[in-house]
Amino acid sequence: MRTPVIIGNWKMNLAPSEAKALLRELRELDLDQSVEKGVCVPAIDLLIAEDILKDSDIKFGAQNMYFEESGAYTGEISPTMLNDIKADYVILGHSERREYFKEDDELINKKVLSALEHDIIPILCVGETLEERESNKEEEKVRNQLEKDLKDVKDSDIEKVIIAYEPIWAIGTGKTASSDDADCMCKFIRDYIKKVYGEDYSEKIRIQYGGSMKPKNVKELLAKENIDGGLIGGASLKASDFEQLINYK
Ligand code: G3H
Repeated sequence: MRTPVIIGNWKMNLAPSEAKALLRELRELDLDQSVEKGVCVPAIDLLIAEDILKDSDIKFGAQNMYFEESGAYTGEISPTMLNDIKADYVILGHSERREYFKEDDELINKKVLSALEHDIIPILCVGETLEERESNKEEEKVRNQLEKDLKDVKDSDIEKVIIAYEPIWAIGTGKTASSDDADCMCKFIRDYIKKVYGEDYSEKIRIQYGGSMKPKNVKELLAKENIDGGLIGGASLKASDFEQLINYK
C-alpha cells in the first residue's frame, strides 16, 4: 500500500555539463510508473534538473538547505529558493553532513520543520557507525536521532517525511547491510513512529534503506516488509544502473 520511493543522491558529483547529459538520458528511460523516483543533485545543478525533468515523472530535490528563508547566510540555499524552482525533496541529516560539516540534531530538526512548513519533502537520514553496531548500540543511536530530529513535527506532517536508514558503515563501502538487518532497523523506526504518532501514521510513512544499494541487491532489499525504497549514492550516477534500480520489480 505504500508507494516505493527510490531517490538518487548524486552527492558532490556531476558538474552542470555532466548533469545535463545524465538528466537527458534519465528522461528518456522507460521507468516503472508505480515507483516514485527522483534525484537529489548538487545546488549548482538544481535549475538544470528543473528544466530537463519538468515534463517527466522523475522528481528532483536538493541535498541540503538552511532553515531560514533569506538573509546573511553566505553559501546557503533556502526553502523559498527551492520552492521557486518547485523542488520536491531535500535530503537532511545525511551522515556526511553530520560528520564533515558538524551538523547536529538541533540544526537538523530546524531544517526538517522548515522543509515541512514550505511543502518540501524532507528525506531524513539516520543510522549508526560500525563501532555503534559492534557494541549493539544501533537502536539507541537511531532512537536518539529520531527523537531529536523529529521534535515538534506534527501528526499531520509525519507521513510526508521520508526516513532513510543508512548504516554509516555501508555507505560507499560496497558493504550492504543484510536484507534482514536492514529490515529489522526499518521496523525499529516504524515502531518508533507507531509509538509516538500512532499505527495509522506508522503504516503510511515511507522508510528507505541506503548504503551500497545496487541493481544486484535492490530486489531482495525492497522485498522486505519494512523497506519502502532506497537512497542511492554511487549507483545513481549511471543511467543504466538507475534504470535497473527503478525497474526492480
Ligand atoms: O545517500 C546515499 C547513501 O549515502 C548511500 O550511498 O549508495 O554510494 O553507498 P552509496
